[in-house]
Amino acid sequence: MSASKAEVLDRRKAITRRVETLLGQMTLVEKIGQMSQVEPGHGHAPDNLGERLRAGLIGSVINVVDVDILNELQRIATEESRLGIPLLIGRDVIHGFKTIFPIPLGQAATWNPALVEQGARVAAREAARSGVNWTFAPMIDISRDARWGRIAESYGECVLLTSELGAATVRGFQGDDLAASGSIAACAKHFAGYGAVESGRDYATTNIPDTKLRNVYFRPFQAAVDAGVSTFMTSFSDLNGVPATGNKYILDDVLRGEWAFDGFVVSDWDSIRQLNIHGLTENDRESAYEACSAGVDMEMAGDAYSNHLLGLVEGGDVSEEAIDAAVSRILRVKFELGLFENPYTDPGSLPDFANAEALNVAREAALQSVVLLKNDDGALPLAVPETASLAIIGPLADATYEQLGTWIFDGDESLSITPLAAIRSLVGDTIELRYVRAMENSRSRANPEFDVAVAAASESDAVLLFLGEESILSGEAHSRADIGLPGDQAELVRRIRAAGKPVIAVILAGRPLTLSDVVDEVDAILYAWHPGTMGGPAIADLVFGNASPSGKLPATFPRVVGQIPIYYSQKNGGKPPSKETIVHIDEIDPFAPQTSLGMSAFHLDTCFTPLFPFGHGLSYTRFGYEHIRASAAEIALGETITISAEVCNHGDLEAEEVVQLYTRDLVASITRPVKELKGFRRIRLAPLEKQTIDFELHTDDLAFYGREGRPVVEPGLFHVWIGGSSDAEQRTEFRVVQHR
Ligand code: BGC
Repeated sequence: MSASKAEVLDRRKAITRRVETLLGQMTLVEKIGQMSQVEPGHGHAPDNLGERLRAGLIGSVINVVDVDILNELQRIATEESRLGIPLLIGRDVIHGFKTIFPIPLGQAATWNPALVEQGARVAAREAARSGVNWTFAPMIDISRDARWGRIAESYGECVLLTSELGAATVRGFQGDDLAASGSIAACAKHFAGYGAVESGRDYATTNIPDTKLRNVYFRPFQAAVDAGVSTFMTSFSDLNGVPATGNKYILDDVLRGEWAFDGFVVSDWDSIRQLNIHGLTENDRESAYEACSAGVDMEMAGDAYSNHLLGLVEGGDVSEEAIDAAVSRILRVKFELGLFENPYTDPGSLPDFANAEALNVAREAALQSVVLLKNDDGALPLAVPETASLAIIGPLADATYEQLGTWIFDGDESLSITPLAAIRSLVGDTIELRYVRAMENSRSRANPEFDVAVAAASESDAVLLFLGEESILSGEAHSRADIGLPGDQAELVRRIRAAGKPVIAVILAGRPLTLSDVVDEVDAILYAWHPGTMGGPAIADLVFGNASPSGKLPATFPRVVGQIPIYYSQKNGGKPPSKETIVHIDEIDPFAPQTSLGMSAFHLDTCFTPLFPFGHGLSYTRFGYEHIRASAAEIALGETITISAEVCNHGDLEAEEVVQLYTRDLVASITRPVKELKGFRRIRLAPLEKQTIDFELHTDDLAFYGREGRPVVEPGLFHVWIGGSSDAEQRTEFRVVQHR
C-alpha cells in the first residue's frame, strides 16, 4: 500500500538527516565515487568492477538487466564496501520494458495522460522486476522537426501536451512513493533544447533565444519538476555556444535556483568528455571542471570525474562543498528509493512480464494512438460481408520487430502480434486474405514482387497497404533529410492504385512523414506510428470497426520537408499568408508587376498550410462543435473563466473524441503564437449524444515569460477556440483586465 502524503513528507525530513550523517562519514574519494556511473564491461568501465565497488568508487551502473548479477553487485556495494551505499541501476525504459507500448510520439497521439501514466507504471514494474531502479525517461524535448530521429521519443511539438504527458510519465514511473515496490526513479531529459538541433541533425547545435527557451523548451521540464521527477539529464547539444553539459545558466541558475529542483543531474553518455570535442575545454580535466561547476552531479559512462575531480578539489579549483552538494543530491534519491533498507530485487514479488493487464494497457494505448488522417467516402471501416476478399500488402504488415519502434533494449519481439496475425485471427475464414510482402524492407528498391502484389490487389475487394519506416529509420542518430516514404513505396502505392480497388494505407513510422505524393492515391490513411507489442490487434479492431479511431496528431505534418519547421503555434509575423496573398510557382505571370505576388510569408512551390494540422484526427462518426461561449466578457487578473462548447456525435456509432481548447493573446509586449493549446479532454459520446464541455481557464494559464524573463499576464483581448484540431473554427473572446 502506498504511503500517505504526511508520511512521505516525514520521510523526506528523515532522509535529509540521514544524508548529512552519511556524508559526514565519507572520504573525498568515496564522494567522487558516488558521482560516477559505469557500464560494466564497456568503454571506460573498469574491469575490476568488484574491487571498485568494494572501494566505494562507483555510484551507479547502467545497462545491466540480469537480476542475479544486479543483486550480486548490490551485495558487494552494500555488504563489502566500507559504508555500504547501494547502487543506482540505470536503464533506458523509453516506451515499455518487455511489453512495448507505442513510441512516445504515438502515445502522445492518445492525448490521454491517464493512459500514458498507466503504461509507464507497467514499464516501471517490469523494469523493477529485473533489478532496475532508475530509468532515463521521459524525453520531453519539444520537437518541431520531423527530420530529427528522436522526435519518435518525444511527445511532439506542443508545450502543454508535452508537459502533461511528461508529468504523467513521471507519476507512472515513480508512483506516489518511490520506495514502494515497482516504483523507479524517472529522469527528465535532455535539458535543454535538444529538439531544436539545426536541420534536425542529431547532436547538432542549437541556438534558442531566452524567451523561447522559457516559453517553449523549458516548460515541460518545469512541469516535470512540479511532478516530483527525481533526476535530470543534460543534452548532448550546444546551447547558444555553451554545451548543455557545461551550462551553468540552465542547470544551476534556472533548474536549481529558480525551480528549486532538489534531485540530481546526470550527464548524457560521456557528454562531459565531449565538452572538449565541442571546443569548450582543452582536456578531460577542464571538462570535469566545467561540468561540475555547471551543476552536473553524476557522469554517465565517462571517466572525467573519476580521473580528475580529486585533483581539482585538491588543487582548489572545485570546492569540497560543491562535491558535497552533488553527492547529497545523489544519496537523497537512493534513500528515497528505499535502497538502504532493501537494495535487492525479488522478482517473485512483482507482477509477471507481459501479463494480461500489461498487454491490455499496451493494446488500449495502441488503439488510442492511431490517427485516421483521411477517410474518403467512408472507405473505413471495412464492412463484412461486402469485403469478401482482402489483399494485405507491404513490408510492415507482418514485421514483429519493426512495429516495436526505436529504443526497445529489453522489448520482447516474440510477444508482438502483427497486424497480419491479428487480422487473420479476427476474420477467421469469413474473408479471403491474400498477403504479399512486396518489399524486403521499407527501404527496398527494385522489387520483383510488385507484380504479385498488383495481382493480389486486382483479385481482392479491397487493399490494406502497410507502409512506413522500419524502426531503424528513427531514434537516436537516425535523422533523415528526406522524410518521404523510403525506398520504392510511393511506386508501390501507384501500382496498387492502378488496380482500381479501394486502397487503405496503414502507416507505421517513427515520425510524421511527408505524404504529399501518395495522399491522393489512397482512399484512407491510418497513421499507426510504431504501435508496439499489441499494435496488430489494435489496428485490426480499427480496420474492421470494432472501435473508432480517436488519435490526434501531436505534431504537424508538413507537405514537403522545406516547410520545416512548421507547427501550429507559430507567430503571425507582419505579413501573414492567406489565400489572397499567395501565388504558386506554376501560376506566376511574368508580365504582372512583382507586387501582385502578394508579399507574404509563404513558399512559391507549396501551400502555406500543412498537409495535416496539429490536433487533427478523424473518426468513423462525425463530431460537431457549436455554441462556444465564455462565462464572462472580461475577467480580472487572478480570476478564472469558463469556456464551454457543445460537442455532438452526429453519427450512429459510439466513439471518443479529443476536445481541444486554444487561445490567442492578441497583443502583448512579446508577440505571442497565433494559437496555444490550453486544455484538452478525451470524451466518449453515444450516437447522437450531445455534451457541453467546460474548460476552466485561470489567468495564470495565460502567462508567458516576458521581456524581463519572468512570467507575466498582460491585460488585453484573448481569442479562444474549442474544436477537434488546431484548425478549430468555433471561436469566442474575452478580455483580461487589471481590476474589476
Ligand atoms: C542518449 C540518452 C540515453 C543514454 C543512455 C544516450 O546516447 O542520448 O537519451 O539515456 O544514451 O543509454
